Amino acid sequence: MHPMLNIAVRAARRAGDIIVRSLDRLDDVKIETKAGNDFVSEVDRDAENAIIQTIRRSYPDHAFLAEESGHTGGKDGEAAEYEWIIDPLDGTTNFLHGFPVFAVSIALRVKGRIEHGVIYDPMRQELFTASRGGGAMLDGKRIRVTQCRELGKSLIGTGFPFRDTDNVDKYLPMFREMVVKTRGVRRPGAAALDLAYVAAGRLDGFFEMGLSIWDIAAGCLLIQEAGGLVGTIKGGTDHLETGNVLAANPKLFAQMAKTLKPHA
Ligand code: IPD
Ligand code: CA
Ligand code: CA
Repeated sequence: MHPMLNIAVRAARRAGDIIVRSLDRLDDVKIETKAGNDFVSEVDRDAENAIIQTIRRSYPDHAFLAEESGHTGGKDGEAAEYEWIIDPLDGTTNFLHGFPVFAVSIALRVKGRIEHGVIYDPMRQELFTASRGGGAMLDGKRIRVTQCRELGKSLIGTGFPFRDTDNVDKYLPMFREMVVKTRGVRRPGAAALDLAYVAAGRLDGFFEMGLSIWDIAAGCLLIQEAGGLVGTIKGGTDHLETGNVLAANPKLFAQMAKTLKPHA
């Protein structure tokens, strides 16, 4: 394993431990509302601090873009080309309700390109990792996207819009199409894990609008390294910038795009 990925794994496991330990005292966890149904808890912050401290110990000059603390660190020169993109707790709403679907997501962007990614599910203790050109792994074993060719036989993951009401109106016709045309649609509630599941062949595809880069940076690399395709619902390639994501195995990608694009 690449040394930088190894550090990311150590950081993700540390954050996962903090999250799982906090489940015993959920009623006492302090929560703030960022906006509407968007929450942050002290556990998100503690997990994020643990990740940043762990990485900083090995790479003091690297930069960070983390959900709760934003842009920090980084020096001029070569080290500034390394930026860690962190979602310390993806699925905060699930976590706060004790609904056991959430994950830690860490990616490393080098000179503008995502090179390494880790998604860790601390409830199942499943570790998804990828390095560019090195394939995608689940607990050290190679994973691949599915071979499913027919939308009618596919299981699709998605996320409902919950911040932007404009997106709800666009989303509902897309949801309808997918419910009617696929075998099933799932909304587990942690986008990073949804993407990891596409990479691992547990879902055939995924779509969601309005995501942030920390939700998807690691997951998109995982999917590409597992042989899948990622883009935007509108047909672009700027999914990391726009947060509108369509991902699937190569056989279903075009079919999903054709079905969803008219509504995007
Ligand atoms: C959220 C989860 C959710 C997705 C939201 C994200 P958070 O992340 O990934 O599945 O639907 O768009 O914001 O806020 O729990 O880190
Ligand atoms: Ca997230
Ligand atoms: Ca989060």
